[in-house]
Amino acid sequence: MSFNPLQEKGTPIEKQIRNWHEITKKPFNKTEVDCYTRTRQILMNGIEVEAWNFKHNFSRNCADAEINKFIAQTRRIEDMQQTTVNWLTPADQSVLETTLGYEQVAVDLTAWMAQNEPDPYVKETFDFGLLEDFDHLYRYSQWAYFEHGISPNDIVQGQTDIMLSRPTQYHHNDATLRLRKPYDKATADPQTKVNIYTLVSGEQQTHNYYAEHGMEYGNQCIRETYAEIKDVEEEHVSMYESLIDPTESWFEKLLLHEFTEVCNYYTCVEDEVDERIKKIWEMFLEYEIGHLKIAADLFKKYEKRDPEEVIGNKIVIPNRFKSQKEYVTKILETQIQKRLSNEGMGYSEVKKLPDDWKSYAVQKKVSEEGAPTEMVIQVMAAAKDRDLTVADNDLKDKEAELLEKGLEPKVQAPDTVSVEQLKKMMKEKEIEHECK
Ligand SMILES: [Fe+2]
Ligand SMILES: [Fe+2]
Ligand SMILES: [Fe+2]
Ligand SMILES: [Fe+2]
Repeated sequence: MSFNPLQEKGTPIEKQIRNWHEITKKPFNKTEVDCYTRTRQILMNGIEVEAWNFKHNFSRNCADAEINKFIAQTRRIEDMQQTTVNWLTPADQSVLETTLGYEQVAVDLTAWMAQNEPDPYVKETFDFGLLEDFDHLYRYSQWAYFEHGISPNDIVQGQTDIMLSRPTQYHHNDATLRLRKPYDKATADPQTKVNIYTLVSGEQQTHNYYAEHGMEYGNQCIRETYAEIKDVEEEHVSMYESLIDPTESWFEKLLLHEFTEVCNYYTCVEDEVDERIKKIWEMFLEYEIGHLKIAADLFKKYEKRDPEEVIGNKIVIPNRFKSQKEYVTKILETQIQKRLSNEGMGYSEVKKLPDDWKSYAVQKKVSEEGAPTEMVIQVMAAAKDRDLTVADNDLKDKEAELLEKGLEPKVQAPDTVSVEQLKKMMKEKEIEHECK
């Protein structure tokens, strides 16, 4: 762990322009790819989109032509990197299959970060968001099976469970309640900063993917499910980005963006099992070290400060993808009843919510004619007698008990799957057997 990216050479910016053939590489094979190669590819696309978008915002707010020349050069490269990474996606990977990949990223990435997060308040926020994306994975998995006849396990490859969690109809909050307390830029650990910058990029890209692709299905229930979950991802972007200290300067943020890219590619290189794709991560790690040098020079010149004050002197590990079933089960069993609190930017529980809880009004309105994420389970019950779950039997047996803890008695969409209904469904033959 002694790798200090500020001491590395990297690839000079003038050597980072590639030809179209080099930019647009051959896609992976969706039936052969390791699920965590796919999650790395999805995450790194999100990281590149954020790097590119941030630099546009920087330029739009910067009157200095010299500074804008530096930003324009690396921004062009970020965009070319984004093409390379995102276009590893094969043409035959359906939108729902890709979607399961996005939610697997969210579950296993957030779980890893929660266990490696030094700030307890930030960790609590990660645990809270984790259960919501875990529920999204379950709801989308039903559609993937129903619409395409695929087993969600073909995508998650047995590494991530598929089970209900805090039901998605309860992820809709008053927009002001989602906002969290920011870390203090002077005292926050670089791991905290990189964790949050990484997660914001991932959640933002998840939102954008649903926004751009949810309408591609003709089935109105699927379209509405994407609309519902996309709105939760908007809440996730708001929640995680509000943890960032808003007084960081543009140069400080630039430094943190490049450092985040370096740390993420570094982890990808360490973990990648696909030799061809590993070469891409290696090349882009060198590119990002080049970008970091430019950002560090700008920071030193304009802020007259040492970059190590912001990013420390060693790499941090933000995205070690591996199975997190045990940790997710622990959070699921203890925190499914958790909700955002009315005051103090903290958390509460279903049974402790006051009558004037701010999110009640939103939940009542958006689900007044039904929640699409409940409807999908009703569709499965009508067509297949039960929902589709992929988990150890111990956890599957707790499905009804978990639902009871997660349901809110005061506000329920009219098509809510009740505990009694779920208990009845659980007696039916499991669907997953059909998928094998
Ligand atoms: Fe990049
Ligand atoms: Fe999600
Ligand atoms: Fe999310
Ligand atoms: Fe970069």
